[in-house]
Amino acid sequence: MKKLIQNGKIVLENEVIQGDLLIDGEIIAAIGQHIDPEGCQIIDASGMIVLPGGIDVHTHFNIDVGVRSVDDFSTGTIAAVFGGTTAIVDHMGFGPKGCNLHHQFGVYKGYTNGKCVADYGLHGVFQEINEDILKETEVMLADGISSFKMYLTYDYKLDDADALKVLEKLKTIGALTTVHCENDAVIHYLREKLVSEGKTEAKYHPVSRPPYCEAEAVDRMIALSKAAGQAPLYIVHVSTGEGAALIRQARSEGAVVFGETCPQYLVLDDSRYEDPKEGLKYILSPPIRSREHQESIWKGLKDGSLQVVATDHCSFDYHGDKQNGKDDFTKCPNGAPGVETRMPIVFSEGVSKGRLTLNEFAAVTSTNPAKLFGMYPKKGVLSVGSDADIVLMDPDMDVTITKSILHENVDYTPYEGLSVKGWPVMTIIRGQTVVENERLQVPLGFGRFIRRKPVDYRELLSI
Ligand code: URP
Ligand code: ZN
Ligand code: ZN
Repeated sequence: MKKLIQNGKIVLENEVIQGDLLIDGEIIAAIGQHIDPEGCQIIDASGMIVLPGGIDVHTHFNIDVGVRSVDDFSTGTIAAVFGGTTAIVDHMGFGPKGCNLHHQFGVYKGYTNGKCVADYGLHGVFQEINEDILKETEVMLADGISSFKMYLTYDYKLDDADALKVLEKLKTIGALTTVHCENDAVIHYLREKLVSEGKTEAKYHPVSRPPYCEAEAVDRMIALSKAAGQAPLYIVHVSTGEGAALIRQARSEGAVVFGETCPQYLVLDDSRYEDPKEGLKYILSPPIRSREHQESIWKGLKDGSLQVVATDHCSFDYHGDKQNGKDDFTKCPNGAPGVETRMPIVFSEGVSKGRLTLNEFAAVTSTNPAKLFGMYPKKGVLSVGSDADIVLMDPDMDVTITKSILHENVDYTPYEGLSVKGWPVMTIIRGQTVVENERLQVPLGFGRFIRRKPVDYRELLSI
């Protein structure tokens, strides 16, 4: 049966209209005023905002970093859909030394098959660079993996020559190089120094990864992207004003560079590290910064220096593996949850507080990620012919975020006690109602793998 969403405030790509949206099967069939309701199931959207389903392009479900993150693809995507996110793209974790790109793809097929309730894609991950690995990116792309991550820190960090090789190669095939930008050598030096001085409490975590570590690495990657002939470059989880400013400057000079930030850098600040116990909840990298950086990141989102808000959802129990860091922050697994709270937090802090328009909100939470990661216009936009991935947001609903109302499989939320105005009340994926009346309406395995396509990134310079 067709579904008709009636009388909602519908957020289209470049305007907002009051009207109706018709769903036929999996697809949006019409958008307009007074669409004929004959034979349709009616969804009354009076007072609601009708948005393209959220797309979170940075999660780490079921990742093994020595200990395993506690949200797998079932609980992670369930939390996602309750939070108004209809698709995720997960960063595959590292595999055994020497493995090829398809090794982890195979492992993640096992993690995802029959598990997801949201649609999902996967980013490839580089551990080492050689001719075979570079060639294999072509096969991965044909398999629907249109983006790859390289780390400049952690065990399988790439050096600058390898980073340049990746940028050159992915440019030729229309895939996106995504990078975790932090200066590994400086972090190692600072960590060792702090530990040798007995400075092992949570508050030293941000001291060990200062803003210049991010800025230096962002600057270096931008230089390499230019050296590779303006190779497309996407900087994940930008946390500093300097990082955002470098991206802004590079883009103004024609560089094909894009930036992502996350809710933790928009609404939390480094005072969270002061309590030596609670501070463990916020051990994630890059660390949470000062309020000045927070303001600069909002500015970067508003002025288009940063195009995406994702989450970097990587959850470890506070009363579980996070306690590995209780006597030494360097032993604490890095990461925090957020996949369920991204849409309401960015809506509330962005739209409800007047920092972002509805169109800007939809752009940074859905449309831009869809464009950058090869899913647009099938996903990321309310448009005739697109997948009917839709969220109804109640803009007047006041909610205080607390662990007990969330579906994430982790024993805390970093946003405990945060009051938000605006909450997703219905989630639809490919025409199927997935969350309604606070209940999950689909079985595990409903979510489909998204075969993502190559992109002409020059055409995206204006997003
Ligand atoms: O602390 C974090 N962000 N952990 C997840 C891995 C990463 O760096 O993205
Ligand atoms: Zn990272
Ligand atoms: Zn991450």
